[in-house]
Amino acid sequence: MTQRGFAARFARPKVNLFLHVTGKRDDGYHLLESLVCFPKSGGDALRVSAADDLVLTGSGPYSENMGESADNLVLRAAKLLQSEFDVSKGAHIHLEKNLPVASGIGGGSSDAAAAMHLLNKFWNIGASLDTLARLGARLGADIPVCLHAETALMEGVGETVTPVGPLPKIFILLVNPGVSVATPTVFKAMKKIGGKRVLPDFKAMSSPVLLESLRVCSNDLEVGAIELVPEIGDVLQALNDCADTQVVRMSGSGATCFALFEAEATAVAADTQIREGHPDWWTLVSGI
Ligand code: C5P
Repeated sequence: MTQRGFAARFARPKVNLFLHVTGKRDDGYHLLESLVCFPKSGGDALRVSAADDLVLTGSGPYSENMGESADNLVLRAAKLLQSEFDVSKGAHIHLEKNLPVASGIGGGSSDAAAAMHLLNKFWNIGASLDTLARLGARLGADIPVCLHAETALMEGVGETVTPVGPLPKIFILLVNPGVSVATPTVFKAMKKIGGKRVLPDFKAMSSPVLLESLRVCSNDLEVGAIELVPEIGDVLQALNDCADTQVVRMSGSGATCFALFEAEATAVAADTQIREGHPDWWTLVSGI
C-alpha cells in the first residue's frame, strides 16, 4: 500500500497466441493447450482503498458494459478471499475499464486476478501465487494464467500454467469490432477438437522463426466463432488486408482478433489503416 492509502495495479489484456483444444472432460469443460501473453501496453486499471464494506465502482470507456461478468468476477474474487482467509475488513475497489468486455482478451479474468493480488497485500493475507491460482481457478478457467500475468503455456482446463520466459520481441495489433461473445456458446460451436501438437521452445527462437512457428498453430474456436459472429471474419479480413501481417488470429473465444508483426512501425501502420476503415472498432498496438 502506498502512503496515500491505496494500492494500484494494471490488469493487462490476455491474448491467446494459439489455442488448441485437445479434449473434453465429462463435465463439459475442454482441455486446452494455449500460449498466452500479456501485451505490455493498455489494460484496465484497478485501485483499492480502505472501506468498511466491499464496494466496486467503475470508470472508463467500457465501465457501462462491465455488466455481469466483469464486476461480478472482481467482487466474487474479493469475497472468496474474505471467506477463505477470514477477512473482516472491506475495501473500495475502483476499476477503470478500458478493455472491451466479453471479448476474448480476458478482461474480467484479468481484473479479478489483479484484484486478488491487490487484496492479498491490502488485507495482509500473504497467500502464495500458487494458492491464489488454485482459488482463482474456482471462479474462471482463465484466472490462474491471469494471476501469473506473464507469457505462459496454459493447459488442462486452464489450471496448469507454465511460464515460458520472455518471448523474442514482436508487436501485436489487437482489434475488436464491438460485439460481445458468450464463451460457452463458442465452445459449443467448435467444429472439431484439433488435438495436441508438438510445441517448440518458443523463447529460444529469433523473432522471424517465432512468427513462423506461431503461424502453423491455430485457434480451434475460430471457425465456429465466425459462423456465430460474422464480424469476427470481417476483422480477420481487415487484418489480413494490412501489409506485413505475419500471423492473423482470434484470441480466446473472440471477438477480439490480432495480427503479429516483426516491426513496430508496420503494426502502427496497420492500426492506422484499420482505424481509418473502421473508426468504431477498438484497437491496441503493443510490444509483447
Ligand atoms: O471458466 P469460465 O467461466 O471462463 O468458462 C466459461 C465457459 O467456457 C464454461 O462454462 C465452458 O462452457 C467453457 N469453457 C470450456 N473449457 C474451458 C474453459 C471454458 O468448455 N477450458
